[in-house]
Amino acid sequence: MTIKINNGEFIFFCCNEGNLDLLKYEMKIGYSYLNPGYSTGRFLTYKTTKDILLNEIEPVFTTRWAKSIKKVSKQQLLSQEINILSFTNFNLHYFSLLDEEAQDKEVYEHFDKFNNVNLENELYYDVVQVKPDEFWIGVHSKNQRCATFPNSDPKILLPDNSPSRAYLKLAEAQHLFNISITENQKWLELGSAPGGASYFLLNNKALVWGIDPAEMSPLCLSNKKFTHIKKPVQHIKPEEIPSDIEWVSVDLNLNPKQSLAEVFRISKDFRFLKGILITVKIVNLDHVEYIRDNINWARDRGFDHIVATQLPSHKREYLLVLLNKSAPKRLIISSKHA
Ligand SMILES: C[S@@+](CC[C@H](N)C(=O)[O-])C[C@H]1O[C@@H](n2cnc3c(N)ncnc32)[C@H](O)[C@@H]1O
Repeated sequence: MTIKINNGEFIFFCCNEGNLDLLKYEMKIGYSYLNPGYSTGRFLTYKTTKDILLNEIEPVFTTRWAKSIKKVSKQQLLSQEINILSFTNFNLHYFSLLDEEAQDKEVYEHFDKFNNVNLENELYYDVVQVKPDEFWIGVHSKNQRCATFPNSDPKILLPDNSPSRAYLKLAEAQHLFNISITENQKWLELGSAPGGASYFLLNNKALVWGIDPAEMSPLCLSNKKFTHIKKPVQHIKPEEIPSDIEWVSVDLNLNPKQSLAEVFRISKDFRFLKGILITVKIVNLDHVEYIRDNINWARDRGFDHIVATQLPSHKREYLLVLLNKSAPKRLIISSKHA
C-alpha cells in the first residue's frame, strides 16, 4: 500500500541524536519540493508543495518518516478523544525521542503493550513523544525501509563485556535486514579493533578474519574462530584471506572514498560473497552529497540491491548495505534504491 500525501500536507521525520543538521541538509539537496516546517530535538516536519507518495522519498538520516496526522497532548492521547486503539487493520508503534528519564511512563504503559510486529497489516500508526507533553501521530506503510520496528529500532542491548559499541551496529543491521549468520560462516571485518562487531559474530559462531593494525580485545583473540591480521587494509594481499568469504563488514577510520576502494579491491574475487555492510563516516556536511555517488559506485560493481540507512546506534555515520544476487531471497527488502 502506498500512502498519498497531497500538496500542503505534512510528513514528519525522526532522527538520531545530534544528526538533525545532516537530515536537514539531505532534505535540502534531495527534496526541493518539501518545505521545512516545525522542528524540535530529533523531530521535524516538512510540508509538500506537490502531491506525492510517501514511498517516493527515502532519506538516509531518518529512522522513521510518516504522514503526519495530528499533534496531541498527553491528556488528549489518553482520553477517548483520540481512540487510536480502536482503529482496525493497522499496527501501532509507540516510541519516545526523549532521554529515558523524560519519557512518559504512563503513556508508555498505555501504548507499549500494543507495539507489535504483524506483517499482515499494511499500515503502521506511529505515536511519537517529542516533548514531555507533546506527541505526534502519523502513519507509515509496510513497504518503507525497516518499517516493522518502532522507529526502526530492534532495541538490542549491549552486553556488559562487549569490547566496543560497534557490537550494536552489526547486531542492529543483522536484525533490521534479516541477515542469517550460520555456524562457521566466513566473515571478514575491515577495521576490527577493539572487537565489538567481531565479538557479536563470534557469539553467533561465525568464523571471523579481522584486519586492523590496532590491538584486538582478548575476548576475540582467545576465540579459536578468530584470526587477527594486524596490518592496515592497504597492505593486505588477496591471498592472505580465504577466497570463500561470504560477508564483509567494514568500519574503518578512513575517508569514505578510500574505504570503499579498499573494500572492493579486497573482495572483488570472493566467489561466494553474499553482501557487504559498510559504515560510512560523515566527517563534514559535504559527505552527505556523496551518498548517491557511493550507491552508484556499488551498483557499477554489480551489487543488485543497495540500501543506505542510519542505524539507531549510529553517530555521524550511515550504513551501506550491498547485497549480491546470491544473497538469500528473504533478505530482499523494499527500497527505492533497489
Ligand atoms: C570505529 S573503529 C572499528 C570498531 C570495530 N569494528 C569494533 O567492532 O570494535 C575503526 C578502526 O579502524 C581502524 N583503522 C583505521 N585505519 C585503518 C586501516 N588503514 N586499515 C585497517 N584498519 C584501520 C582503526 O585502527 C580502528 O580500530
